Amino acid sequence: MVIQVKNVNKSFKQEDGDILHVLDNINLDIKDREFICLLGPSGCGKTTLLRIIAGLDEPDSGEVNDSAGLIKGPSRDRGFIFQQYSLFPWMTVLDNVVFGLNMCYPDKKEENLESAKRYLQRVGLEDFQNSYPYQLSGGMKQRVAIIRSLLNHTPVQLMDEPFSALDMQTRHTLQEQLIGVWKRFDTTIVFVTHDVDEAVFLADKVVVMDKNPGRVKDIVSIDLERPRKRESTEFLKIQEEVMESLGVHDME
Ligand SMILES: Nc1ncnc2c1ncn2[C@@H]1O[C@H](COP(=O)(O)OP(=O)(O)OP(=O)(O)O)[C@@H](O)[C@H]1O
Ligand SMILES: [Mg+2]
Repeated sequence: MVIQVKNVNKSFKQEDGDILHVLDNINLDIKDREFICLLGPSGCGKTTLLRIIAGLDEPDSGEVNDSAGLIKGPSRDRGFIFQQYSLFPWMTVLDNVVFGLNMCYPDKKEENLESAKRYLQRVGLEDFQNSYPYQLSGGMKQRVAIIRSLLNHTPVQLMDEPFSALDMQTRHTLQEQLIGVWKRFDTTIVFVTHDVDEAVFLADKVVVMDKNPGRVKDIVSIDLERPRKRESTEFLKIQEEVMESLGVHDME
């Protein structure tokens, strides 16, 4: 197991002075190379939990451990992709991708450049390597951010609704590409979404969360072969199961 979340609680003080109990005794085991989706309604604490796993926030009680022990702060072993595109606007696409690699492998500048170019080509961005982020569409920017993060070979990727702002077609393409990259790099991924279809398409395990306070309500394992077919009976059946455990009427 790579990450173990144990009895994690987190509250925030609101502006009116009230205390909001956001995460209530969260327990979760994440195995090496697993693709986990955290699924739940807006405000159930998905981002808060992801930030705690990243080491960007501390729990009030409980702990998160990885194979190196207690997580006390951010680490290069855990990449974080935010919902907003986290590209440097003043750098070209190629420089954005190479930047992270050069940070990790400063002695391999030539090789870094070559891998960056190769991967940009794989996701169809070879003609945009000298463009700046403002010249790209949302889907293209997100592809660059994902390549940049995955190329660092971080063993764990934490992704906070990276595709939520995209149109359905782009979203589906990126989901397929993400599965491809996840397999190629043997990464462990924790992916936040509030989209049932996305969770069932991507995950080995869907962690269904409840809100007020945020709890783990159910964990649904998905044993379907990849690439998954959305129209297949098994896919629809699992989707139904996840929706039921979520209580669809609770979703915003
Ligand atoms: N730093 C903070 N200070 C005060 N309250 C916070 C803070 N961060 C989060 N919260 C509150 O905690 C709750 C959970 O927030 P969180 O962002 O984790 O939810 P979420 O599940 O990611 O929601 P969404 O799907 O909308 O992104 C919300 O009510 C939010 O207002
Ligand atoms: Mg969130």
